[in-house]
Parts: sequence; C-alpha cells; structure tokens
Amino acid sequence: MSDEFDAVVSTVRERVEPDREERRRLRDAVAELTDRIEAALEELPVEADVIQVGSTARETWIAGDRDVDLFVRFPPDLPREQLEAYGLQVGHEVLPDGREEYAEHPYVVGEFAGFDVDLVPCYDVSGATAIQSAVDRTPFHTEYLTERLDADLASEVRVCKQFLTGIGVYGSDLRTRGFSGYLTELLVLEYGGFRSFVEAAADWHPPVEFDPEGHGERETASPSRERDGTSDRPFDDPLMVIDPTDPERNVAAVCSEESVARLQHYARELVADPRVELFEQSEPEPVDPDTVLDAFERRGTTPATVGFETPDLVEDDLYPQLEKTRGGIVGLLERHGFDVLRSTTIADEDRAVVLAELAVAERPAIQRHEGPPVHVREHAERFFERYDGTAAAGPFLDGDRYVVERERQFRTAAALLESDELFDVGLGTTIERQLRESYTVRVGSDVAVLAERFGTELAQYLDPAP
Ligand code: UTP
Ligand code: MN
Repeated sequence: MSDEFDAVVSTVRERVEPDREERRRLRDAVAELTDRIEAALEELPVEADVIQVGSTARETWIAGDRDVDLFVRFPPDLPREQLEAYGLQVGHEVLPDGREEYAEHPYVVGEFAGFDVDLVPCYDVSGATAIQSAVDRTPFHTEYLTERLDADLASEVRVCKQFLTGIGVYGSDLRTRGFSGYLTELLVLEYGGFRSFVEAAADWHPPVEFDPEGHGERETASPSRERDGTSDRPFDDPLMVIDPTDPERNVAAVCSEESVARLQHYARELVADPRVELFEQSEPEPVDPDTVLDAFERRGTTPATVGFETPDLVEDDLYPQLEKTRGGIVGLLERHGFDVLRSTTIADEDRAVVLAELAVAERPAIQRHEGPPVHVREHAERFFERYDGTAAAGPFLDGDRYVVERERQFRTAAALLESDELFDVGLGTTIERQLRESYTVRVGSDVAVLAERFGTELAQYLDPAP
C-alpha cells in the first residue's frame, strides 16, 4: 500500500512540477514587470518598491498556473486615497490592457507574457501586526515561508495543492471556502510533507488547532480580525491556524466545516486506495431534460426553482448572496408546510437558480390553528370571538384547547414563491433587487428544461458525492 501511495504521488509530482522552460519564462516576465513597475514608480512623488509574493515567489505554484502576484509597497503614512490612486496609476501603466478588481482596495489585473498578473498596492509596514489593510500581511507570509520551505517541501506543497484542487477544496474564495495557498503551505510545513498531512487529516477531530509560532492565546476581538471580517465566530472555526506573522489571525478563517469534512473524506480514500484520479477535478456528463424528469419522478419529489438574471457581482459577493437567498427561500417553504428535502444554488454568468426539492408541494385548503386552553379565560374568549363564524371550521375543542381550521393562504409551492411573501425573507441584497425586477418560478416537470443550460450541475445534484 505504501508503495502505491508513493507511486501515485510521484506521478502527480511530475505533472505539477514546472519545467525549466516555464520557470525561465516566469523569471523573465517577473524581471520585465519589475523593471516597468520601478520605472513607473520613479514618476511618483513617493518612495515605493516592488516585491514578488504568492506561490511564484515561493516556488510553490502548480505547472501551468499562470498567476503572478506583485505587490507595490508604499510608505505607511501615505493616505489611503493616495495609495489607491498611485496603485492604479502604476497598474495601468504596467498593464495597459489590465482591468480593475476590488479586494480591500482596488488593484489592477492583467495579462503579461502569458501570465495573469495581479498588481496590488500595499503599505510597507514594520510587521504583520501593524497592518493597515489585509494585503499588507502578504509580504510577511512570503518572507516567513521562503525561509522555511526548501525545494523538497515546495514540491510537497504543489502535490498538496493539486490534491485539494482535485477534491474541490482549494481556494479561499467565498464560493469554495476552502484552503488558501498560504494555508496549504503552513499545513505541509507543520506536518513535514504531503503524506503525513493526509494521514493526519484522515484522523482529525475538529476543531483542529495549530499555532506554528506558539503565539498562544490572544483576545479574539482584535482590530485586524475585524478588518478581515472574520471576527464573527472566532471559536466556531473547524480549523484554526494561527498566522505565524500575525497572532490575531486565523489563516483558516474562511475554511468551512464542509471543506474540512471533504478533505477528511478524500484523505481516507487516498490512504485506503491511492489513485491519481483523486488529484483530478471531474465533472459528470450533463443530463438532458428527459433524464431530469425521470429522476425526479423516480424520487417521487417535486423540484421547485426560483430563477433570475445573475446580478453583475464578483464571485465573492455573488456566492454568499446566493447562499443567503437559498436559506431564505427554504425557510419560507418550510414555514408554509412545503417540506424541503434538499436544496442548492446554480449559477452561470447570465442566469441563476435556487433549486428546492420538495417532499411536499401541495397542501390542503385548510390548516389547523390551535388556540389557548379554555381555562385561560381572557385569551380563550378573545380567540373564540375572533374565529367564531370566520374560520373554515370551528372553533371546536381538542382536549382543553380551542382549535380552528383556517383557509390556507398558499396551497401550492408555486403560489407561495410567486407571491410577495418571497420578499419578507432574508435574501441577498443585490439578488433581492434583481428578484423585484423579475424572476421565474418553475415547479415539477417545468424544471426539466433547466438541463439545457445546467445539465452538468443537475447531473451533480442527482448523483451527489462528498
Ligand atoms: P494567491 O491567492 O495568489 O495564493 O494569493 P498563492 O499563495 O499565490 O497560491 P496560488 O498558487 O496562486 O493558488 C497570493 C498571496 O496573498 C496572500 C497570501 O500570502 C498568498 O500567498 N493571501 C491571499 C492571503 O493572505 N489570504 C488570502 O485569502 C489570499
Ligand atoms: Mn498566486
């Protein structure tokens, strides 16, 4: 078994190892970019320097990955607006075809010599604890890891990133809510290699805590945490990796419970039955409308969808909003007696849907409504007067209580979803605006047509895996 594991890893290792040519092209591109940035910086009335960060600076990028991270460090006393303005000016000068993206502040992203370059302005602070903006930490990460990762460990990191990618948990974006590059590197460092990491993860009992630099316990509500937006639930995180460069920060703050569970599941698979496919992302064959129709018929459930135009948001905004919208819609359905068996969201650039698979899609004309016990005189009398003559049936007695049967407001999930009740639940802000403009409700066999656009996603839904 152990040989098998190593054989699989070495196959993967070869694939993810950038060759000499790729390294050379990268080095040349970075050198050329650095020259251009330095030239652009000379025009500015401030002292600033450029530094390469991220995986290409640490030799931990995956072959074929085209992402180059360059940071321009400005003096810490430069006002924020100035930093942003200078950052963008340099960015556009160096990457004339670049576009602006927005993290904590705007920066320029563009292509150069076949690489995707991120050109990010930050403050040249004395340490990661003195940061003014979350990105100010990044150079310290690079410094910390470059000192500790040798070529062998860097190679282990690449294998690990490929594994996490293959099983769908690589990335700290809010869609994946998985393992960032930096987190992966710290974990591989902690365990001394990919295999030890995987074997250990198979046995984790979250919450799992690491404190590589022994920073120890700190108070939780620190300013830097708040700036991160990660201060909400400091103790709920399934994985805690105290940032070696900033004791106040959990590097794994965005990593979800589900991502940790997924890692554990596939770690066990890999140990039990090592195979290269676990390092490869796979997509099911798309299903067609007839297959969808048959599948739900066999399941004896009723699919219901709320579909709308995908709002023009970056993924880190869109996916949390979709999640919130899904939660709101599921809650609404449940409260009205339409039991939801499972639900999901699916989106591409143009259209998005919340899909709720209903165990109950139609309800009787009436619903039961319990009143107070008769002996609670004041309440009981008020209840009786209110419903006497207006209820569909009753008031009558069930034990010591008054009960009435009232007309149900929504007999079908479709009627409920098409009503204004939809706007009384928590929806993503921008999605709510979109829904107010227009949306489409499909229930039952009408849902099948969505396979024309979302065949792969529906295939995944109908044949779910960890
Ligand atoms: P990247 O997302 O490009 O990650 O962020 P990476 O480490 O280079 O890994 P890959 O190979 O491209 O996927 C660049 C750097 O920004 C900081 C880290 O220091 C990271 O190495 N960063 C990024 C964070 O601290 N947190 C994040 O959520 C993302
Ligand atoms: Mn990167």
